[in-house]
Amino acid sequence: MYVLNFAELTPARFLAEFWQKKPLLLKQGFAHFEDPLSPDELAGLAMEEEVESRVVQCSNGKWQLETGPFTDFEQFGERDWTILVQAVDHWHAAAATLLEPFRFIPNWRIDDLMVSFSTPGGGVGPHLDQYDVFIIQGLGQRHWRVGMPDSKLQQFCPHPRLLQISPFTACIDVIMEPGDVLYIPPGCPHEGISLENSLNYSVGFRAPAQKDLLTGLADYLIDNDISGKRFTDPERQISHNIGELAITDLAQVKQLLQQLVSDETSLPLWFGQYISRAKHELDLQEPDPHYQPAEVAEYLEEGSVLALTGGLRCCYHQADSAADIALFINGEQYLLPPDELATAKLLCEHRRLDEQQCLHFIALAQRLDLLVQLINLGYWYFEQ
Ligand code: SIN
Ligand code: CO
Repeated sequence: MYVLNFAELTPARFLAEFWQKKPLLLKQGFAHFEDPLSPDELAGLAMEEEVESRVVQCSNGKWQLETGPFTDFEQFGERDWTILVQAVDHWHAAAATLLEPFRFIPNWRIDDLMVSFSTPGGGVGPHLDQYDVFIIQGLGQRHWRVGMPDSKLQQFCPHPRLLQISPFTACIDVIMEPGDVLYIPPGCPHEGISLENSLNYSVGFRAPAQKDLLTGLADYLIDNDISGKRFTDPERQISHNIGELAITDLAQVKQLLQQLVSDETSLPLWFGQYISRAKHELDLQEPDPHYQPAEVAEYLEEGSVLALTGGLRCCYHQADSAADIALFINGEQYLLPPDELATAKLLCEHRRLDEQQCLHFIALAQRLDLLVQLINLGYWYFEQ
C-alpha cells in the first residue's frame, strides 16, 4: 500500500495552499518507493491494441512522435526517447494502487495514471498541461523544472502533434529520485529530462471545459428526448429595427439556457452519468455465463472477496437524506432508496470489498440483485 507523506503539510493544508495555485515538490513523498511495474511490463502494455501509447523522440533537434501499438523498441536506440502509456490503472492492478493516496480528492475529479519510461536525454520537451498532475518518480533519476504560469510564454509545435513552449524560468529545479513527488497545477510550464533509464507515474485529474460540459448536456437531452421549454414572447412590442437582435430578446435566450442548467433535478443526473464515463478503454471481463443471485450469495458467504475493474468510475448523489440516491457507475445510473447510503458508499469508496463488506450485500435481496448486475457487467469480479 502506498502512503503519501506530506511532510509538514496535511492534505487539507496542501489543498488550501498549493492545489491549483502553485507547484510543490514532496521530497520522498513515498518513502522506500517500489515501482509497481517494470519497464518491460510497460513496454508489453504498449504492444496491446486497446492501450493508448506514444513514443516521443528528439534527435539532433528534430522532434518525432509515433503512436502505438508498438512491436519493438530497438529502433529507438539507447537514448533521447520516452514512451508514454495512458490509463495504465485500467490494465495493471498494482499500478492502479498508486491512485489511492490521492483519494482525498473525489473520484470524479481523478482521471487516470499515465506511466512513462524514458531513456537518458528523453523527455517530451517544455510544455503546459490543462490539468493538475502529481508526477511520481520511480526507477532512475530525472531532471525536472517547473515554473509559474506566464502569459508571455509562446506556444509552438515542433511536430504537428507536440505542443511546446518557449524557455521559462523555473521555481522548482530538481533531480528527482525514486519516491519524490512533484505537484504541478494547470498552466505551469514544466519539463523533465531523464538522466538515466527512468520511470515516471503521472496521476492526472479531470477538469471538464465549458464546451465539453455543454456538448455532454446536449447529448444527454437528445438521448433522453428532453426538448425543454421553447422561446416565448407574449409581451412583444412593435419592432422599429427589424434586423436587430435586441438586448431584451438576447436576455430571454440567456434566461432560457440558464433555466436548463439550473434544474436541480436533472443537472446531477446528467453530470453523474457524464463524469462517470471512462475516457479510455476498460478491461471489462463479462462473466459467461452470468451469475445467479444464489450463486453470488453462496460465494460471498464462503468468504470470497470482490475487486473493482481498474479505471471504473463510481460516484453518487443524494439531494437530502429523504431523497433516493442516484448511483453512477461507468456512465449508467442506478437509483437506490434513501436509506441505502451505506451501499452507495461501499461501492464508491472501495476498490476491493473484503469479506465483511461483501456480507453487507447478502443482507437484502435488492442489494444482492444490484451487486449481481454489477458483477455480470464485469465491473466487480471475484478476486482469485
Ligand atoms: C512524462 O512523464 O514524460 C511527461 C509527464 C508530463 O510532463 O506531463
Ligand atoms: Co506535462
